[in-house]
Amino acid sequence: MQMTSPELLKIAVNEFNNKQLVAGLEKFSFGLVEDPETEAGFESLLSESFKVPAGQSFYDDFPVWQSTYDTYKLRVVAKDESGRVIAGGGVRITDIHAPSGALPVAIIGAICTAQNFRGKGFGSRIVQFLIQWAETRKVAGIFLWGSEINLYGRLGFSACGRQYKILAKDLVFRADSGSSVSVSSEVRLGFNHSIFELMRRRSTGIVLRSRDEKWLGAHQNTEWVSLWSKSQCLAYLAIGRGIDLHETIHEWGGTSDSLQKLLQHAVALRPNLIMIGGVEEFETSFPIVKGCAKEIQFLAKICDPAKWLSGYRKGIEFVHDREDLRSLEVQWFGEGERTGGTKFEPLPIWFWGLDGA
Ligand SMILES: CC(C)(COP(=O)(O)OP(=O)(O)OC[C@H]1O[C@@H](n2cnc3c(N)ncnc32)[C@H](O)[C@@H]1OP(=O)(O)O)[C@@H](O)C(=O)NCCC(=O)NCCS
Repeated sequence: MQMTSPELLKIAVNEFNNKQLVAGLEKFSFGLVEDPETEAGFESLLSESFKVPAGQSFYDDFPVWQSTYDTYKLRVVAKDESGRVIAGGGVRITDIHAPSGALPVAIIGAICTAQNFRGKGFGSRIVQFLIQWAETRKVAGIFLWGSEINLYGRLGFSACGRQYKILAKDLVFRADSGSSVSVSSEVRLGFNHSIFELMRRRSTGIVLRSRDEKWLGAHQNTEWVSLWSKSQCLAYLAIGRGIDLHETIHEWGGTSDSLQKLLQHAVALRPNLIMIGGVEEFETSFPIVKGCAKEIQFLAKICDPAKWLSGYRKGIEFVHDREDLRSLEVQWFGEGERTGGTKFEPLPIWFWGLDGA
């Protein structure tokens, strides 16, 4: 279901329609993706812009943006005078797990502009509108994944987060050490409700609610592998997503021993699998990765610094006060390696692979 504020939308529509973006291209209409024709135009522009192979759809890899699935989202498009969709994008509101509880956040995605309309400000205007809409929903911050640093930087986003990326076979270090996994355990393929229940127990990433099971299970190019003992799912891995995350394990969970056993199985078949995860998540399940190279995970725009400070205050003493929190790179001191007080470190935020859109 799409939710919107008619007033805000009206202002944006007028602003968008009245702005002469480029001489000779005076009139463009701006509106929601609601009717089947606009839906089809948006889907086809998304598939074209993200270079999806013929016969497939952008939604095969990003079903969260499809109208079919019940997520709290807004999708908007710009059309030219003939009614053709020439740009579009979406935002969804959800919650992220933080040490002190859930924080409301927005995730922007599905941003696209038709090839011959690029560089004229359509992408920026659409993202601007989505930001405005998210901000009125009192989110703590807005996240997106993209390499267009100029575009998003101008709109207040900065690179944040840290993730480990590691060759999965390097994590199989206790293969025959007599794990507690029963000899009767078996590996199964495909997504199912027990995997979802295990995912819901995670303490990082997006907070999963029962309505999220459908769109998570609708990823057409993601392979799910799980380890079972009798009727109990002990561990799971999700591999790939088509457009991105090729041969990458981006969702995983379960007990450390079961994960080891499952990984051993997966890398025996596919030795080049890469595994990504949050710094904290990896260090808990795979102590061996300590000290690995970390890379930036996402772009973030802070909307409400106070929410972040209260959400992450548990166990962390911030050096900065709330006015200084303009990015999620904060100077802070806490336990272990982070003690020091003078180092800038990102807040330990992590989005699992399918959380990001
Ligand atoms: C990214 C995209 C939506 C931009 O749309 P647009 O209407 O051209 O956006 P704007 O005119 O507002 O801004 C264009 C800016 O984005 C930058 N940009 C576009 N594509 C880029 C890329 N692949 N890498 C880096 N920067 C890029 C342009 O250089 C330009 O910056 P500049 O003004 O400083 O030169 C469009 O290029 C597109 O559809 N790309 C394919 C789909 C995609 O990758 N979407 C983004 C996923 S988050």
